[in-house]
Amino acid sequence: MAEAAKFFEETSEPANFFEKKSQIENFVAKHNEESTPVVLVTSGGTTVPLEGNTVRYIDNFSIGTRGSASAEYFLEHGYAVLFLHRQRSLQPFTRHLPQSHLLDILEVKGDNEGPTLCVKQESTSKLLNIIQKYHAVQQEGRLLMIEFTTLVDYLHLLRASSLILSTLGKKASLYLAAAVSDFYIPKNKMPQHKIQSSNGPLQLSLELVPKMLEALVKNWVSSAFVVSFKLETDPNLLTVKAQQSLEKYEHQLVIGNILDTRKYEVVFVTNSDIDWIKLDDKDIQNGVEIESKIVKNIVERHRQFCCE
Ligand code: PMT
Repeated sequence: MAEAAKFFEETSEPANFFEKKSQIENFVAKHNEESTPVVLVTSGGTTVPLEGNTVRYIDNFSIGTRGSASAEYFLEHGYAVLFLHRQRSLQPFTRHLPQSHLLDILEVKGDNEGPTLCVKQESTSKLLNIIQKYHAVQQEGRLLMIEFTTLVDYLHLLRASSLILSTLGKKASLYLAAAVSDFYIPKNKMPQHKIQSSNGPLQLSLELVPKMLEALVKNWVSSAFVVSFKLETDPNLLTVKAQQSLEKYEHQLVIGNILDTRKYEVVFVTNSDIDWIKLDDKDIQNGVEIESKIVKNIVERHRQFCCE
């Protein structure tokens, strides 16, 4: 935990940090007053810059499907959602409208004198449904979206959000679906300017990022319901690593997933059980998203946790 504290001392807060913090404080205070359960959903990958004036950075595969879909299902279950997401990754509601598809669902009607822009008949009901849900959530002020790009920005915002959420006690829940880098280059070991190829092949030395889950669970937001994710590529490691994570950090739930199958199956690991959640063929045919099942299950567990 001392390592986590050192990390924050040695790194800078992101741009507009105080503005973002105050947005989060207002959001949490409003929902505390209204007794709405609040979930922090983290989503997307974190970047690790190689230069101070960043031209190049290391990134990962995550585009935020898990986080953005889950945020929508938490909203459906009546939660207020603090959505901490990677800039330009998928977001709730707009994720259904990929840019490449947007122009295909629109058409121009009427003549050149008075053309009107319309949504094509076949897309109307889907779009209407999304827009109605989005506007209802906006009106109720139940979705706050906060962006990050780098690993350092993400961790500063995660700590600030967790500390603010701690005022809610058990009513707060954290759903840590972002794909967080384990390696980074500290500022004092990073060149300020663009690395020159004329200097020959590039050798990088990355340092370990302290695991923040320990500080999060023990110091930042100790009464909340905390769900972390464990990502592996080797199926033989998944359950064991998820169990180890649970034992080490002593939070409520680890959801294990394998990179290739993450959209179809996940494993819930708690102190008392190991439960697989899977989509069957019928679910897949009907367009069911695994996040709808994950979130339904978590909402029930969080409800029980609040009653304990
Ligand atoms: O965005 P998608 O394409 O839909 O993909 C979703 C997902 C696969 C990214 C998601 O389901 C997922 O598994 N997210 C967690 C990925 C991850 O960071 O796994 P990990 O095994 O490296 O870390 C385990 C946990 O430690 C994570 O909850 C992470 O928040 C936490 N961590 C990681 C690094 C760090 N320095 N400190 C941490 O506390």
